Amino acid sequence: MFVRGRQILLGIGGGISAYKSCELVRRLQDNGFVVSVVPTQSSLNFVGASTWAALSGRKVYTDLWSDVEDVPHIALAQNCSAIVIAPTTADLLSRLAQGRADDLLTNIVLASTKPKILVPAMHPEMWSNPATISNVNILRQRGFLVIEPDHGRMTGDDVGVGRYPEVARIIDEINQHLLRNADLLGKKILITAGGTRENIDPVRFIGNRSSGKQGFALAYAAAKRGAQVHLIAANTQLPVIDGITTTFVETADEMDTVVKAEFPFSDALIMSAAVSDFKVAQSSDHKLHKQEIQPIDIVLNPDIVAGVGMMKQKGQIVVGFAAETSIELQKLQSAGRDKLLAKGLDLIYVNDVSDGKVFGSDQTTGMLIAKSGTVIDIPIISKDTLSEILLDQLLVELG
Ligand code: CTP
Repeated sequence: MFVRGRQILLGIGGGISAYKSCELVRRLQDNGFVVSVVPTQSSLNFVGASTWAALSGRKVYTDLWSDVEDVPHIALAQNCSAIVIAPTTADLLSRLAQGRADDLLTNIVLASTKPKILVPAMHPEMWSNPATISNVNILRQRGFLVIEPDHGRMTGDDVGVGRYPEVARIIDEINQHLLRNADLLGKKILITAGGTRENIDPVRFIGNRSSGKQGFALAYAAAKRGAQVHLIAANTQLPVIDGITTTFVETADEMDTVVKAEFPFSDALIMSAAVSDFKVAQSSDHKLHKQEIQPIDIVLNPDIVAGVGMMKQKGQIVVGFAAETSIELQKLQSAGRDKLLAKGLDLIYVNDVSDGKVFGSDQTTGMLIAKSGTVIDIPIISKDTLSEILLDQLLVELG
């Protein structure tokens, strides 16, 4: 089951309490988290990579120089909803406070904008050392959540503050921290994806090249940030996302009906589907044979997003997409702004689809234009990253 905001990257520092994180992985999974483990080289002296692979059921990355072609430190940094490091050693605290990037884990932390939660565990003298205290203060000022270690017996006979906390407390603190960072919590977002098909006869249709990847990426990103998402998918081949309500439609008329029924209960509509502007006036109920072929009469489909733009109430946001082939930025911007105004939108993403870019690709480029005047140039980035940028702007527009 997909649980909103619950993909954890678990870093393991090189301390004896690394073995306690085996239990942490299990309890995180019980709580609906999907866990990917990144152990530091020194932690492998305590718990080996195969233990983490078996417990997490996922590939374990241990160094910066494997699978380089996938740029794993960037992918791992972007594809989680939070980073937890347990145990965090004194050395890791120091390296993180300095912003160093001398192994895979510190590279990931530096490259990630996601919430970061540290679970320090070390000998009491190390924990109370002024150098450690200063490193913890620096990290807290930068927004890291640093969980206080427990008081108790150490690995040897010493007693003091520095023990790896009870797993239940760690999970409690992670849950609370993620809840605070779920900035779309309580928002209902309606998202359309894919491309409509208009029947000519039972076997032929007028369609388009939209894959639905952008709409699915948006749905996933919004759900991860806590939103309640209803996805309306037209003719996509993508796997459904557990935990996201998905309605499948085929034609523009079907999409129009579902969007209009759902929009009054939504805070925002993101209309990323490619809707056919027209349909066949009279589609045939039987397969047309060669002898019957005649010119096809077409009629306009409803403009779904423009209709919603007219019915929206104060506080509701409507986001449209446009596909343009103009290579001049100025023309892209004016075409986008015209469409935004004509359709009563609050935000529009103008896709630059010149030279066959974008369709079916995992990447996109273009321009995000807000009614309020903000214009954001989008270089070639992944559709996942665009989703985050668009949702950030949607939050601004929602106020
Ligand atoms: N749209 C819609 N209903 C339609 C056609 C389009 O809701 N019948 C929405 C699309 O989902 C998208 C935006 O309107 O959000 C795009 O508008 P459109 O005018 O179709 O732009 P382009 O696809 O760029 O096409 P054109 O420039 O030819 O108008």
